[in-house]
Amino acid sequence: MPAQTQTIMAMNTNVWKKLSREEIKERVFHAIDNNVNFIESDVIGIPGSRLDPRVFYQDAPFLSDAPFLTSLIRNPNHIGCHTLGDSEPFFAGTQAIELETLRICAEDILRATPQSYDGYVASGGTEANIQAAWIYRNYFQQEKGAKPEEIAVLCSADNHYSAAKAANLLNLRFIRVNVDEDTRKIDKTHLDQTLIRLKKEGIKHLIVVANMMTTMFGSVDDTDTYVEALKAKDMDYFIHVDGAYGGFVFPFCGESHGLDFSHPEITSVTLDAHKMVQAPYGTGVFLIRKGFMKYVRNSEASYVKGLDATLIGSRSGANAIAIWMILSTYGKQGWTEKIQTLIERANRIARALDSHSIRYFQERGSNIVAIRAEDISRDIVNAFHLVPDDHDNPKWVKVVVMEHVTDEKVDRFLRAFH
Ligand SMILES: Cc1ncc(COP(=O)(O)O)c(C=O)c1O
Repeated sequence: MPAQTQTIMAMNTNVWKKLSREEIKERVFHAIDNNVNFIESDVIGIPGSRLDPRVFYQDAPFLSDAPFLTSLIRNPNHIGCHTLGDSEPFFAGTQAIELETLRICAEDILRATPQSYDGYVASGGTEANIQAAWIYRNYFQQEKGAKPEEIAVLCSADNHYSAAKAANLLNLRFIRVNVDEDTRKIDKTHLDQTLIRLKKEGIKHLIVVANMMTTMFGSVDDTDTYVEALKAKDMDYFIHVDGAYGGFVFPFCGESHGLDFSHPEITSVTLDAHKMVQAPYGTGVFLIRKGFMKYVRNSEASYVKGLDATLIGSRSGANAIAIWMILSTYGKQGWTEKIQTLIERANRIARALDSHSIRYFQERGSNIVAIRAEDISRDIVNAFHLVPDDHDNPKWVKVVVMEHVTDEKVDRFLRAFH
């Protein structure tokens, strides 16, 4: 085992285990059996059921070997936030799998202590980021008497647009801070100037989004850059980490970082299993320290046992099962090895670009390589479907080394430069 992998394993809280296919199947079927059975019991009050059997055959013989498809057909509704303790009892079986999924993400990946967090499987990174901003806006309003015009969402120029969407929905100001064109690191001078300007303009409370790998560059923010500047300007703030892309990559690359619950200034994190984990769409993960979900818990949801504190409302329990099945298939060591293989493949691309004097950005420990658009021919960009930062005026195009980006494909890509 490489030394880097051993260091990462030493942090293991041992929640995340590798299970055999048979063990995974048994666990999921057992969970499904512990949910309400719409057909065999006298359930007449729940406005939900299995998927329509005329369309989704319940008796297909392969289903007995297909736990995920069975969970889709049995269609559990995971409405609510189950870490809060009181949830719909009809789906308690599969909710337990969601809780295990959250434990793996919070404790094993994001170094939270047991029982110190709340969270749920959201529809994706966008929802999880909006959920965070929603909670903090309500906190500032309820605890500090803040007016919406005194609260702003602040992030880097490379941040995903979901932060802008959150600010727009929540009627808050949205501010981006410049990054260095080459290193993609936050421009500290611009950050200081921005904070001074915002204070003058009456902004008192900030919802800061820090990146654990940005969409275009895979760049990683330094939490302490934000903390030092915010404290120096005596700002009231929360820091949310957007790990929608990097949350299942960066913690496994061996680089140290302050973008998880081991950093006292980080209050919440977004992960997204429908990116690097190759789970079905609808598998975002929202995690936040305990004590915050109450700011969005809706007492109007009185027909839902335990009420609802999520943005989405009804959501499929099959999504949580899919994440749990994938993570349990690998275990922490297997996942670390997979990610390190992909990073090494990205490093190989970077080395080859160096040898051709082609300019690019790659964060250490990242599997994204962003190449200067003017240094690469349109033919290569089109042939390999590289994604631009801006379709109308591309300055960068990126390679994202996922599992389907095999060594053979990388070889073909690199040969195209000769
Ligand atoms: C860093 C980052 N945050 C948020 C999102 C939004 O995720 P989703 O499309 O799952 O809503 C993305 C999507 O690419 C992303 O890369």
